[in-house]
Amino acid sequence: MSDKKFTPRVFSGIKPSGGLQLGNYLGAIKRFVQMQDEMETVYCVVDLHAITVWQDPKELANGTREVAAGYLAAGLDPTKSILFNQSQVAAHAELGWIFNCVARMGWMNRMTQFKDKAGANAEKVSLGLYAYPSLMAADILLYHATHVPVGEDQKQHVELTRDIAAKFNHDFKTDFFPMTEPIIDGPATRVMNLRDGTKKMSKSGESDMERVNMTDDADTIVKKFKKAKTDPEPLPDTLEGLKDRPEARNLVDIYAALNDSTPDAVIGEYAGAGWGRFKPALADLAVSKLAPIADEMARLMDDPTEIDKVLKNGADRARAIADPVLAQTYDIVGFLRS
Ligand code: TYM
Repeated sequence: MSDKKFTPRVFSGIKPSGGLQLGNYLGAIKRFVQMQDEMETVYCVVDLHAITVWQDPKELANGTREVAAGYLAAGLDPTKSILFNQSQVAAHAELGWIFNCVARMGWMNRMTQFKDKAGANAEKVSLGLYAYPSLMAADILLYHATHVPVGEDQKQHVELTRDIAAKFNHDFKTDFFPMTEPIIDGPATRVMNLRDGTKKMSKSGESDMERVNMTDDADTIVKKFKKAKTDPEPLPDTLEGLKDRPEARNLVDIYAALNDSTPDAVIGEYAGAGWGRFKPALADLAVSKLAPIADEMARLMDDPTEIDKVLKNGADRARAIADPVLAQTYDIVGFLRS
């Protein structure tokens, strides 16, 4: 094992497919914003990943702007963080190809997200969907990122990134790529569906009532929490008491994450409370935190040229890091450059 030191640097990304939901905000964006004051941060709208499943070209560019608007509205400062869309930095696809030749089929076959997404349809999905984790490794390692904040569902992909880095380093007898750490912490690393607490909240779920979108207005947010599935019991006095109550646990976790608090503290405050008290408190809290972000997203979306300018500037800065890393990778691999 090498003891080479890498400068601490964060990389993370979000796909521009289908809009942003509360899980993206609490599990990712909110934490991205906090980290921009702790170390160098690079955040991406991963449009190359989005096209692993069909995207309407007319909607993709707007979806990309909307994710960028979500980052900015939540407090991401483009003078502190690098913010760009992936397809503007060609090195992602180029390093992704090299990693396709490093990663093993057996590793890809173990990816649970691929199995979930492909389902019974594995013969018909794109080759890109299968190779997706090696492009994700390229995203991360192109910046020699040491820290990757993500939700729980991305843990396996970040672990695969470490496997790819280790195999590359081993095969080419180098210590060029770092062993990246996934950063999965806080109460909202897996925000669950509001209608079924055993399923993850996602943008692709069938009913809009299952999720809170980052663009929802105050009335919609209130309605969704009011209708969220719960059980007949009041809140217990300890977190232990939420075991086997997935919907109740999810609402407590969401409250804690929105309030920068902990599930323990929320239970401390609401022990014995019925849903008639807890749900309106949660809805009020969510509206106070999310509605201003939705308003700001709408304002930003009215001025697409401004968003495009931020992304272009971010892409220029991203290339300044990524291109030399790719060039050195080419040298290590033995590609002739004239
Ligand atoms: P994506 O676009 O599906 O999700 C973006 C981020 O949001 C988190 N997330 C959640 N967190 C908590 N609860 C939920 N219900 C929830 N739903 C989504 C995800 O964990 C993620 O952090 N493969 C990635 C994008 C990607 C990437 C990368 C991430 C591409 N390259 C490099 C990190 C580093 C994805 O599909 O995320």
